[in-house]
Amino acid sequence: MSTRREFIASTAAAGAATALAGAVAPVEAAQQTALFAAPPMDRVRVGFVGVGGQGSVHVDNLLLIEGVEVRAICDIVEWKVARAQDAVVAADQPRPAGYSRGPRDFERMCAEQDLDLVFTATPWEWHVPVLLAAMRNGKHAATEVPAAMTLDDCWQLVETAERLQKHCLMMENCCYDRREMLALHLVRLGMLGEVLHGECGYLHDLRAIKFAKEGEGLWRRAWSQTHDGNLYPTHGLGPIAQCMNVNRGNRFDFLVSMSSNHRGLEAYAADHFAASDPRRQEAYKLGDVNVTLIRTLKGQTIYVGHNTNNARPYSRINLVQGTKGIIQGWPDRIYLEGRSPEDRWETLDRYYDEFEHPLWKSERVRNATNGHGGMDFLEDWRLIECLRQGLPTDQNVYDAAAWSCLVELTERSVAARGRPQDVPDFTKGRWQSTPPLGIIES
Ligand SMILES: NC(=O)c1ccc[n+]([C@@H]2O[C@H](COP(=O)([O-])OP(=O)(O)OC[C@H]3O[C@@H](n4cnc5c(N)ncnc54)[C@H](O)[C@@H]3O)[C@@H](O)[C@H]2O)c1
Repeated sequence: MSTRREFIASTAAAGAATALAGAVAPVEAAQQTALFAAPPMDRVRVGFVGVGGQGSVHVDNLLLIEGVEVRAICDIVEWKVARAQDAVVAADQPRPAGYSRGPRDFERMCAEQDLDLVFTATPWEWHVPVLLAAMRNGKHAATEVPAAMTLDDCWQLVETAERLQKHCLMMENCCYDRREMLALHLVRLGMLGEVLHGECGYLHDLRAIKFAKEGEGLWRRAWSQTHDGNLYPTHGLGPIAQCMNVNRGNRFDFLVSMSSNHRGLEAYAADHFAASDPRRQEAYKLGDVNVTLIRTLKGQTIYVGHNTNNARPYSRINLVQGTKGIIQGWPDRIYLEGRSPEDRWETLDRYYDEFEHPLWKSERVRNATNGHGGMDFLEDWRLIECLRQGLPTDQNVYDAAAWSCLVELTERSVAARGRPQDVPDFTKGRWQSTPPLGIIES
């Protein structure tokens, strides 16, 4: 693997700008850093792979965005391709080409279609094959989360994107949710002081979904049979990483991880299925509760939780502790020294009034209810906006790799009694000269 890593010997720039530039960095400046921008394009011709639950949300969003042409749809299920094709036609676009000749038909799509962007919302094991096929055929590539499930695949994405000069990004929608963006905005404005610690996670009772005979039930439970670690780290971690400028002046240093026993899936199967049901015979490996601690090179600490197997309400925690205050979600609350009543939490209402992130002030986001209450539309719109304007994307291949590599690193740490695991520097040093993501205006 080290030989391949050599390949991405960086063009690290000395003394690059440290000012907040983020999404407004011009192409020339971007080349000095770990930011990548492609030439601007007037329209974005999209091929979509995997139009199940989440893929359909993205297709619907893309059809609402100016400049997007959905040219091709691929899924292993023919009626899902037809459903998405109908949606495109209903949006007054020509019927896109359909691809449903088996699990590798996206390769044919990538080879024969003139596309600017291939976007995938397939099961986890297919993200990397689709992304690589897209880039090797000259397309930019975007994927649902996590981008990759192994360290080796994280490196492959980085190396291929660098070699072929393509965008390869993971669409972490939770970075665009309203409270996460409020927290980032408060951090950028200095209201929380110096950021010291974050807590986050994906705590979502998915038992019924994992055992369903459709959608994620067809593939997600299988991962619980073969892996023990944090299988889904990016929803919680992405927003915290942005607050801590990971890959942009900072980076993850190392982590330790532990898992509890596994009980939830076994108990659910025993309660819901007949003794003869094959799902009663499955053996699981994934500890129900996985806890990970990360330390950044700049000395911050991050708690990352994962639990999709037990009875509990949803939470991503989304806690940011700074020297001057703290904000957290589920339930939403904040305490800022000098502003909040002594030793008392406040609700976020008046902070939204005063400090709403500019992107959440836009009418089109507030009116976009398709897909997790607006954040999915916002992330899709930002991707298209960056491509059309020739800007670096808000999240890039280094973020995809640094946030997704937790899957394998947590598993390694769990298997080694919590032994520390170094997080690779996918930027090869360029994190030092890459400016933080700025406050993006709409
Ligand atoms: N960001 C979010 O909030 C969010 C929410 C849900 C799911 N997701 C992610 O989206 C992805 C898909 O999840 P989902 O809930 O939509 O699952 P799903 O099972 O509903 O959809 C997956 C689709 O991919 C298709 N597919 C499978 N293998 C394929 C292949 N080789 N080629 C083409 N199509 C193929 C399936 O037929 C299905 O239509 C996953 O990565 C998941 O983690 C993200």
